[in-house]
Amino acid sequence: MAISTGTGDHASGTHISTDSSVTIRVARFTPRQGRSGRSASNPFASSSSPSPFGSRPGRPRGKRWTQEYRIQTAHEQTILDCLLQIKREQDPTLNFRYSCGHGMCGSDAVLINTTPTLLCTATVGDFAKVPAEETGDGGDQDRGFRRTGRTGADQSRPEGPKPKRTGWLGVIDIKPLPGFTPLRDLIVDTDTMFDQIRRFHPYLREDAEPDPDMENLQTPAQLSKFELLSNCIACGVCEGSCPVYAGGEAFAGPAALIAASRFINDSRDGHSQERLDDINQEDGILACESVRACSRQCPRGIDVGEEMWQLVEAVNR
Ligand code: SF4
Ligand code: FES
Repeated sequence: MAISTGTGDHASGTHISTDSSVTIRVARFTPRQGRSGRSASNPFASSSSPSPFGSRPGRPRGKRWTQEYRIQTAHEQTILDCLLQIKREQDPTLNFRYSCGHGMCGSDAVLINTTPTLLCTATVGDFAKVPAEETGDGGDQDRGFRRTGRTGADQSRPEGPKPKRTGWLGVIDIKPLPGFTPLRDLIVDTDTMFDQIRRFHPYLREDAEPDPDMENLQTPAQLSKFELLSNCIACGVCEGSCPVYAGGEAFAGPAALIAASRFINDSRDGHSQERLDDINQEDGILACESVRACSRQCPRGIDVGEEMWQLVEAVNR
């Protein structure tokens, strides 16, 4: 039976019939009163070599807990729709950030299960998982072990597979984006990332005063060198995926380096060498360990890891 819960697709306003349910587990955080969420200093950098990129995320004090919500939903519903539904129907105190709802503003990056991604593009069908203990398969098969007997709580129920909950799609875990200081629930402090982007002067700098009567023409080949990079929405998903950045090491981060690369590759910019010198630092491109995890989830299709590699080659040249 299709149950109408009043759940609408936030983008189109259309009604989606919600005949399934899902459990959403949210990592919640309320900061301690009177404390700024932002750490005052980098707990990871040595005091003798302060980072030119500012502070790294600390662990602000406050109350942390995991809250579970069960909602009626559908496979195609976005996780953002689910959180809006929870806020509207069950818990107005839940905090998360979003703006456009279309993968364009980059404000709603979080960690869903183990994947950094955007709330507004991730769907229930992609992320809901029935835990192994609910399917009756046992978790051991997933790890390559064969089950030889029933133990513990297993023994208190009859033999055979555990009955499945009808229409239940499973569990989705949502946490704040790694590598960023949590401010409240799923909202993180993105100031450090934007400070790092600003440090690399994310705007055209020409050598001479532009002649208002002259067009600054580019060939299609020149445009193609930076066109994709200019689609970056500074969502921070690549930073949350990067083990160096999210691990708390002092690193400008891939989003800032993508912003620098966009102008290094622009034939109209007159400061490419200066930009390369700016990123050729221990906290800059030299901190990149070419793990390439940053490429996996970029919502704008940028091969971030390949761009990092191109920057390494450029500074070496
Ligand atoms: S490169 Fe991709 S993942 Fe990284 S900030 Fe830009 S849009 Fe987001
Ligand atoms: S809300 Fe704008 S990108 Fe998701």
